[in-house]
Amino acid sequence: MSTSDGRYFSFDGHPIATDGERSIAAALLDAGIRSWRTTRVNGRPRGVFCGIGVCFDCLVRINGTPDQRACLVTARPGDVVESEDVVKTRDVVETRDLVKTRDLVETEDGGTSA
Ligand code: FES
Repeated sequence: MSTSDGRYFSFDGHPIATDGERSIAAALLDAGIRSWRTTRVNGRPRGVFCGIGVCFDCLVRINGTPDQRACLVTARPGDVVESEDVVKTRDVVETRDLVKTRDLVETEDGGTSA
């Protein structure tokens, strides 16, 4: 098996079968891989949670582009997919927290609301 024979993509250096139609997450799950990144605080394993592009639990690096949602991207033969490291995951979470903070509006009693 190799990623150059048209039926596989690479995940952390291992060939994973693909039909070129389903998502990277689906192909990884079919190969028995349930998690491919860890949480930044406790290092807990994460893989697919929502499966529809909402939760960002399934982030991977695809052909060198970080922070791609594995549940939304088709697994193409020859792709090079890598698990996300803890540092990249922390950057994504911090960016999301900044956006949430910016969206808060100060209320008359000094509190905040969305
Ligand atoms: S599993 Fe939730 S965004 Fe991919």
